[in-house]
Amino acid sequence: MIDIHELSVQFGGVKPIDGLSVKLTKPIVGLIGPNGAGKTTLLNVLSGFVVPVQGSVSVDGRRVTGVAPHARTDMGLRRSFQTDQIADDLSLQENVQAAADHIAFDSRQARRNAVTQAIGFVGLGHRLDRRGSKLSTEERHLAEIAKTVLGKPRLVMLDEPGAGMSESETSHLQRVIRAIPTFCGAQVFLVDHDVALIAAVCNETMVLDFGKLLALGPTEAVLNKPEVRRAYLGDFDHAESL
Ligand SMILES: Nc1ncnc2c1ncn2[C@@H]1O[C@H](COP(=O)(O)OP(=O)(O)OP(=O)(O)O)[C@@H](O)[C@H]1O
Ligand SMILES: [Mg+2]
Repeated sequence: MIDIHELSVQFGGVKPIDGLSVKLTKPIVGLIGPNGAGKTTLLNVLSGFVVPVQGSVSVDGRRVTGVAPHARTDMGLRRSFQTDQIADDLSLQENVQAAADHIAFDSRQARRNAVTQAIGFVGLGHRLDRRGSKLSTEERHLAEIAKTVLGKPRLVMLDEPGAGMSESETSHLQRVIRAIPTFCGAQVFLVDHDVALIAAVCNETMVLDFGKLLALGPTEAVLNKPEVRRAYLGDFDHAESL
């Protein structure tokens, strides 16, 4: 569970998170909101890259604000970035291995096994030796997800994993994200502009409106709220069919 308490972030005159309090309890939680709404900033607070001016965040009852980023990895926090972090000159396996090197395992063999299993989990077992530069956009996003399921994650945060994907690629991505809680036991916090992806995988969804909570609840109900539709979805057909 993610427990956010009276959280505020300030960058000069900009306040991308403004007195936010929310408890996120479901296995897969969505986060939507327009460009600049503070979504990535919230993930940055959770992972320790941004220090809030006020408030606190706990994950599964343990306070994470004030804890160094690398110590949060030990606590089971994992994230992917909006701009993928795949090294072009390393193979897929080496890329995932590099992420595993920052995580504690019982043995080298356990680490190697975890890397292989994570890559298999996202469906890229046939691409182990492919260099980063030769991976497609979809494969790079999936490789990023493989890195987040290593070790014993408690919370997997994904920042726009569906960006730039075709419909068929997104349907594979949906299956992978849905399977994360069962695969590794982690809660998933998913940021994406693709509302169809959010609708397909998230048990609950929150909407950020420039640092404030506009809505939170079961995904279908949230996406059908008139104020959410007006503000973010326009005449989005999918919301119609939910
Ligand atoms: N390190 C920073 N320094 C100054 N301002 C920042 C910083 N990071 C984010 N901001 C500002 O904070 C606000 C929220 O940005 P954020 O990246 O969290 O939005 P977002 O919801 O992730 O948007 P997008 O959908 O475009 O990814 C924006 O006005 C942004 O310009
Ligand atoms: Mg962002």
